[in-house]
Amino acid sequence: MKEFMTINLEEDLKELPPPLVFEKGIRRAPSRGFRLTEAQTQIALKNALRYVPSQHHEALIPEFLEELFTLGRIYAYRFRPKERIYGKPIDEYKGNCVEGKAFQVMIDNNLDFEVALYPYELVTYGETARVCQNWLQYRLIKKYLENMTQDQTLALFSGHPLGLFTSRPNAPRVITTNALMIGMFDNMHDWEIAEEMGVANYGQMTAGGWMYIGPQGIVHGTYNTLLNAGRQELKIPVDKDLRGFLFVSSGLGGMSGAQPKAAEIAGAVGIFAEVDKSRIETRNKQGWVAYVSGDLKEVFAKAEEYLAKKEPYSIAYHGNIVDLLQYAVDHNIKIPLISDQTSCHAVYEGGYCPQGLTFEERTAMLGDKSKRDEFAAKINETLRKHFSLIKTLCDRGSYFFDYGNSFLKAVYDAGVKEVSKNGRDEKDGFVYPSYVEDIMGPLLFDYGYGPFRWICLSGKKEDLHKTDEAAMACIDKDRRYQDLDNYNWIRDAEKNKLVVGTQARILYQDAEGRVKIALKFNELVRNGTIGPVMLGRDHHDTGGTDSPFRETANIKDGSNVMADMATQCFAGNAARGMSLIALHNGGGVGIGKAINGGFGLVLDGSQRVDEIIKSAMLWDTIVGVARRNWACNPNSIETVKEYNKRYSGKSQITLPYLADDKLVAEKVRERFK
Ligand SMILES: NC(=O)c1ccc[n+]([C@@H]2O[C@H](COP(=O)([O-])OP(=O)(O)OC[C@H]3O[C@@H](n4cnc5c(N)ncnc54)[C@H](O)[C@@H]3O)[C@@H](O)[C@H]2O)c1
Repeated sequence: MKEFMTINLEEDLKELPPPLVFEKGIRRAPSRGFRLTEAQTQIALKNALRYVPSQHHEALIPEFLEELFTLGRIYAYRFRPKERIYGKPIDEYKGNCVEGKAFQVMIDNNLDFEVALYPYELVTYGETARVCQNWLQYRLIKKYLENMTQDQTLALFSGHPLGLFTSRPNAPRVITTNALMIGMFDNMHDWEIAEEMGVANYGQMTAGGWMYIGPQGIVHGTYNTLLNAGRQELKIPVDKDLRGFLFVSSGLGGMSGAQPKAAEIAGAVGIFAEVDKSRIETRNKQGWVAYVSGDLKEVFAKAEEYLAKKEPYSIAYHGNIVDLLQYAVDHNIKIPLISDQTSCHAVYEGGYCPQGLTFEERTAMLGDKSKRDEFAAKINETLRKHFSLIKTLCDRGSYFFDYGNSFLKAVYDAGVKEVSKNGRDEKDGFVYPSYVEDIMGPLLFDYGYGPFRWICLSGKKEDLHKTDEAAMACIDKDRRYQDLDNYNWIRDAEKNKLVVGTQARILYQDAEGRVKIALKFNELVRNGTIGPVMLGRDHHDTGGTDSPFRETANIKDGSNVMADMATQCFAGNAARGMSLIALHNGGGVGIGKAINGGFGLVLDGSQRVDEIIKSAMLWDTIVGVARRNWACNPNSIETVKEYNKRYSGKSQITLPYLADDKLVAEKVRERFK
């Protein structure tokens, strides 16, 4: 094979590495359950063995079979490198081009014990979101990245490195897709079989795009959501924050762990239920949640103390969210803002803990094939109760919003038909809004504001400081209140100690803002003020994602069922030379419910990259604003008018002629008579 494949794992795998010793205290993924037939099992084994020289197959077959039978996946644990995995400074990586080294920093950061949810299983966050499927893929991807030149592109199919192909410097260095199932098989069941067989990977959003930067990535969005929910629903003026208001939610995991920090930055008192003690400890150790208790009386007394002082505070309740809400209902406690961030997009796969079970008991039950139906029934019962408690609290004046975790969809699937908006099915959404539908969509995405981010690849704190200052100088804080929020955010970012893992920063920006900051950073790289920088974003953004229950929840022209925008965004980014482009199925809402894409752009200081910034960065966001404008969203129409004037002669977006609602309704009614 060496003769036909110069980049291979033969040298690394002359001898089989010793079995992996798992470090104590590092969270492990639960068993995903084993569902394959005998014939499928044979294929799954042969699939995993394709990466390994044949002389080792006999030794590996029983081991891989054991992983598959007990965990429902082949992780090839033995091949995990023994040394600590973390995003090292870029110069410590081997490579033939800056991008090849930069993506190794990103991959390793996504698998850092400090950052990843289940690092041994390559899960970065969101219960099932993975960098790739197994440690053999990890090794081979790194080999390719070490070898890659600026004239090549690495193609990845659901974590599998298909190969390095000839391209050109202005083409992407990495094109990755995850879990893009054929329509007929685009459902949870068939996807699970495909993942077990080793042909699908759940990239979710930034895990499979290697762009996760720890919970900081979400803090800014959560801060924006809470602040704007308060402005809209609690009538808080734009120059004030949430001091004196209580926010209750659940989850202290990958993304949900951002809630306490965001609530505090927004001035609120927040209580967050979490069943897994280890996740509470992680957030508490990081200083992201201030107080921990398993006693509800104590929890609410502490909250009351800080609400009375009008001081921000964050509290973790070790227990089930349903118990917490029951207590609030029983004691008539007022909660102005309520949400939920359990992993309901994977509700039966471990994402949602039934009431009455400890975290450990749910893990045991999840892994027991004979108890699958009983487990699902318990989940459904808890979801129904959860919904009825929320309903009671909303009837008493609370504002509840779905946090894009498919909670309301899960409630619907659990048999609560009254949660459906049209009373028939879930296709028109639910009786409670999603945070995008009411808040993020109209107030942020429709203008193009979204989760722009960067990583200082040198690993130097000073570089991050310099980029924070440079970005702040690019913001005109007097333009809109959103700009003022973003300005305040970046001004205080260092003080708020947001970094977990690599030296990274998130900053919501619109299309123009992103371009301006990117050009400034590239100039700083060019003149040697800072080392190379990776730009990227969450897929949870204006342009990259079609997801009717989340990112595109406020698209009302019927096109919310289409995935044209995400696909065009991805293709347009490739055409314009982003360094990495990703397209995934599922995102944060689950298989078949979203198509989402993202990018990475390595700033090397060159003029070439300046040109990419000017076209690709603009396209990546404005495509979303353009689509939202065509869906007749008012803030997008205004943004597009400004854009069309500014780029007159160079670029133009089609604007809609707006119909008179009354006239249309009248004429349609007559015709229906
Ligand atoms: N934060 C955001 O901006 C954002 C945006 C979109 C979607 N989401 C969604 O939010 C969900 C959470 O994401 P994550 O990365 O934190 O996932 P995660 O799986 O890391 O965390 C969820 C946490 O909820 C806990 N949990 C489950 N059931 C519980 C219960 N009944 N009571 C109390 N705690 C319970 C789990 O132990 C886990 O720690 C996902 O579905 C994600 O797609 C978040």
